[in-house]
Amino acid sequence: MERKKLEKLLQRYMTPDEILTAFSLMDKIQDLKKAKNAVILGHNYMTPDVYYGVSDFTGDSLALAKNAAETDADIILFNGVHFMAETAKILNPHKKVLIADLDAGCSLAEAVTAEEVLRFKTENPKIPVVTYINSSASVKAVCDIVCTSANAVKVVESLPEPSVLMIPDGYLAMNVQKKTEKKVLYWSGKCMVHELFSEMDIEMARKNFPGVKVVAHPECKPEVTQISDYTGSTSQIQDYIESEQPSQVLLLTECSMGENIKGENSSVEFVSTCQICPHMKKITLEGVLRSLQEEVYEVFVEEKVRIGAEKSLRRMLDIGR
Ligand code: 13P
Ligand code: SF4
Repeated sequence: MERKKLEKLLQRYMTPDEILTAFSLMDKIQDLKKAKNAVILGHNYMTPDVYYGVSDFTGDSLALAKNAAETDADIILFNGVHFMAETAKILNPHKKVLIADLDAGCSLAEAVTAEEVLRFKTENPKIPVVTYINSSASVKAVCDIVCTSANAVKVVESLPEPSVLMIPDGYLAMNVQKKTEKKVLYWSGKCMVHELFSEMDIEMARKNFPGVKVVAHPECKPEVTQISDYTGSTSQIQDYIESEQPSQVLLLTECSMGENIKGENSSVEFVSTCQICPHMKKITLEGVLRSLQEEVYEVFVEEKVRIGAEKSLRRMLDIGR
């Protein structure tokens, strides 16, 4: 995005002094990135300064996993949460993978352990386990296949068995169940951000803004997606808004998505509530600069775990979106 346009976007939430500091940090990051042959991947939930100012590729978890699988950079700096950086490392064992803050976690990734999956498999040997990409490397290593919010139905349907277990996101599993004939068993994990949206948010928005388009992420409760106009991954939501150009949108996902979409679609108005992911918000320009300067924090995955996790990830990548 050109500077003038980015400046205008940043003015929505930064003071003039903060904008000057942000541009100076962006320049330093861009110079270092070139000098070190690094690539910066930025998830759609990054704030606009990080998203537009320093990212080489932006997108949802699936798009960024593909970018990570294809890069020839020496260093991958992942601006997102830990499981995303870990995914990049699983696909690139010989590259240095960095994340600006190791505490950028995910409530879903914490909701299941490899031991729990192994116990389920012992008790249910005929039921394959599909893990959402929002899970740890050790969980991916003991599952049959990975999915993301963009391809979950396709992944479930790719399996020959009539029943599957989806972990760790119970709501994603329930949303998939609505679109497949297979029997989908659920886990109890929840996204701490998306579980906060309710039918009431939608009813209120429709009352106050007649004609508003309601757009939800599949980590929302099925009662919420049921009455939304569109449900999709973060990139699918972005594509939907870009192609439909609705005048008003209720965005039932993380707040920065709205800011970033607004950057390229100024006539779209985002109404009412959004929710902040405290993990994603740990990634700042200051942290990104330090990460590149000091080459911290490096993400490691034990080789035995990595091999198993790569198998589950490649099986998904072979299927596609
Ligand atoms: P996407 O894969 O749709 O970008 O979702 C990732 C995520 O963490 C949503 O909360
Ligand atoms: Fe995890 Fe939810 Fe944050 Fe996405 S928004 S990273 S699922 S806690």
